[in-house]
Amino acid sequence: MDKFVIEGGHRLTGKIAVSGSKNALLALIPATILAPGTYTIFNAPNLRDVWTFTRLFGSMGVHAELNNNELFLDSRNITSFEAPYEHVKKMRASIYALGPLLARYGQAKISLPGGCAFGPRPVDLHLKGMEKLGATIDLDSGYINAKADRLHGAKIHFEISSVGATVNVLLAASLAKGTSILTNAALEPEVTALARMLVKMGAKIDGIGTTTMEIQGVDELRPVDETNVPDRIEAATFLIAAAMTRGKITMTNVNPYHMTQVLSCMEDVGCTLDVTGDTIELEMNDAPKPSHINTAPYPGFPTDVQAQWTAFMCCADGVSRTTDSIYPTRFGYVPEMARLGAQIEMVDSTAIITGGKALKGATVMSSDLRASASLVLAALVAEGKSEVLRVYHLDRGYEKMEHRLSALGAHIKRVGTDDF
Ligand code: UD1
Repeated sequence: MDKFVIEGGHRLTGKIAVSGSKNALLALIPATILAPGTYTIFNAPNLRDVWTFTRLFGSMGVHAELNNNELFLDSRNITSFEAPYEHVKKMRASIYALGPLLARYGQAKISLPGGCAFGPRPVDLHLKGMEKLGATIDLDSGYINAKADRLHGAKIHFEISSVGATVNVLLAASLAKGTSILTNAALEPEVTALARMLVKMGAKIDGIGTTTMEIQGVDELRPVDETNVPDRIEAATFLIAAAMTRGKITMTNVNPYHMTQVLSCMEDVGCTLDVTGDTIELEMNDAPKPSHINTAPYPGFPTDVQAQWTAFMCCADGVSRTTDSIYPTRFGYVPEMARLGAQIEMVDSTAIITGGKALKGATVMSSDLRASASLVLAALVAEGKSEVLRVYHLDRGYEKMEHRLSALGAHIKRVGTDDF
């Protein structure tokens, strides 16, 4: 398992381009099941999660090739309607196969995703949505067995704003017979990216970008080429990294409209930002001011940036609070951060961070994707040498992170090791 060796204390400066969004791409790939044919998705990040996902869809018969950030997909030969445990255990988003398989082929067998590193993550809203659209769902031996003659339109209210359930229901309702109305639908840019691709494929969707969407099901959709949106979580991670090192960077290929809450929090704590088109210039010369943030569905502060923000606040002079209302137990990184000297106390789903004391290099262990990112950020400012173990978590969601941070002046290298 690879690790990162990081010597902290080097200011980040220079230019960095943001990759395509991982989570948006994971929503676009299943859409190819709805219309057999060939697709090219541009701005596709080359990530472990993308390989895992294309392997899953490959096992169903969707051929995939990723070259130079262009993902070619061929869905003309689907032979299996199953997402087996070996794939789902690696990636919860495998449940996205449910909606399109049901809509296009009237059947799906999907392994139930279990818990994950940041707590229980049910899929009840996905299943209720499919049942409302007319599917029969049977849970047996850890699998969801779903069947439907033809899905029909329905009124579906999501009790909780859920990215995944909205994606799954949108995919299914596009080919259902009749009209579906989704209320309290998730607004995340990844959902909007999928809705736009579906419309390009011939779907009839009103209310894109709002919490109420009306979908008039169609009999057939057609394959298309699509350009993926920039990764707002990756962008936020690199901006925070630069701010923590009191750096000055120019970030390109970013969509600032997708990250207004994070950018406004960064300005509040003292970052100077200059936003023009798809470029953000950031400069930070002082310690950040302390802050209180709470995660919320889009356009609120993303839970996927919670851990990185907590790392940032370790540099603030004073006491900050980070609350995660979406995933209240998503703080597995806190004991590891303490190994670097961070002073963080947990009260329920709030981290109380007493910043201002210099972090010191140490060996720390990654536990999930964003937790790993927060440890890398902390190590970038810790005095001396740190080792971040198990960076395979990072490889799930950040393309060549060490090369891109090195290009900005970080002292970071990947070392292969087989001793843990
Ligand atoms: C997606 C993102 C993930 C992000 C999360 C929240 C992908 C592949 N993953 O995950 O990175 O952290 O959104 O922005 O895009 N819930 C239920 N029942 C359900 C589904 C969800 O109770 O059936 C709850 C969850 O436990 C959570 C909340 O709803 O508290 C939001 O989760 P959801 O938006 O569904 O997250 P994911 O789509 O799994």
